[in-house]
Amino acid sequence: MESSIPLLSVLDYEARASEIIPSALFNRWFGTYGAPDWITNTNNLDAIQSTKLRPRVLAGIGKRDLSTRVLGQDIALPVMLAPSGFHQRAHPDGELASVSAAGSMGTVMCLSTASTYSIEEVARASSGPIWFQLYFLRQREVTETLVRRAEDAGYSGLVVTVDNLPARSRERDTRYAYQVPAERVLKNFEGTDLWDSPSRYAMHDSYEMAIAWSDMEWLRTITSMPMVIKGIQTAEDARLCMEHGMDGLIVSNHGGHSLEGSTGSMEMLPEIADAVGGGIEVYMDGGIRRGADVVKALALGARAVFVGRPIFWGLAIDGEAGVRHVLEIFRDELDIAMGLCGVASAAEVDRDLVVPVGAGAGAGDPVDRLERLAGLVDRGYLTRQEFDAQKARILGA
Ligand SMILES: Cc1cc2nc3c(=O)[nH]c(=O)nc-3n(C[C@H](O)[C@H](O)[C@H](O)COP(=O)(O)O)c2cc1C
Repeated sequence: MESSIPLLSVLDYEARASEIIPSALFNRWFGTYGAPDWITNTNNLDAIQSTKLRPRVLAGIGKRDLSTRVLGQDIALPVMLAPSGFHQRAHPDGELASVSAAGSMGTVMCLSTASTYSIEEVARASSGPIWFQLYFLRQREVTETLVRRAEDAGYSGLVVTVDNLPARSRERDTRYAYQVPAERVLKNFEGTDLWDSPSRYAMHDSYEMAIAWSDMEWLRTITSMPMVIKGIQTAEDARLCMEHGMDGLIVSNHGGHSLEGSTGSMEMLPEIADAVGGGIEVYMDGGIRRGADVVKALALGARAVFVGRPIFWGLAIDGEAGVRHVLEIFRDELDIAMGLCGVASAAEVDRDLVVPVGAGAGAGDPVDRLERLAGLVDRGYLTRQEFDAQKARILGA
């Protein structure tokens, strides 16, 4: 089928990807990817929409510098590839394609523990900075092996994801009956005790549920990679990251995948940036789809952002070239947005450039929210039942 969707924006990639990716996979992972009612996911999008820009003019700026520095490394673009599992579900070249695209654009790719190419294979294919994302496993020896392998292979940051370990809803798994294809295995477990267990295909049963700050301290003793905690949503935990000697944190609710009813990441960002006061690096993810979204995140205190689903859309449509094009779109849009805001460099973007969403305020106009949700039903992301449940909530609010 010839698609009529041009690939001019990241949202075009999303729309085209939804045409070519099997619906169970799209509904479970690459599209809605949310907790059951898509509320946190919607909050991420609404928080971005509700944050408004305050552009300055006549700044006499001809050329913008988009580069920044993360964990001591210079990158050309403050848009990094979020850790995400199973890239081969979108394209046979999987993480190798993604890491090549990231390198060619001069940005970081963070490899997930749940990757379909191994830590070492991805390192060999990289031409830019790579970070490793750790899911802390019950099998502490396997956890330790993964960290040591990443450091030995040249990864320069350890991202520890902490927001989906204690529990997880299986509602979407069941509703969309998505099964990971048996040939797509978690390559990092080859040679470990987990290779002969169901964890070879899906790792949730191996998570350490009782993970705590003391485990982060233990990780510190086994690696010299800078450490970043992914999944911080409060100022209190941000301060604890600093107290426990972390190098950075990611304001994230896992793209709306974990706890239903969390605040949109961009709404939490200023509170968290203020709590750490520049003491450690702050990044953000969740719903970033436009260059102007990146400007808002930088203005509210993020040093850079991560994108998750857009990578899968690029991969599914055109492998490495697709991911690169998605990143080029972010680069070009960010350049335009910075130009129109009157800022010469990413480092110069500050809070005066935005009107943040009031902390704790409900985000988004109800009509806009309903329209967006109706669009999701049209595109097959949300069932009619899910839409009705959200509608009742929004109208009752
Ligand atoms: C298909 C998929 C798989 C993911 N796998 C992981 C993972 O293995 N580890 C992790 O820390 N986060 C994972 N995430 C979450 C992303 O790192 C990121 O937090 C989220 O996608 C950001 O939101 P966005 O998709 O709206 O950009 C995954 C996200 C998606 C969409």
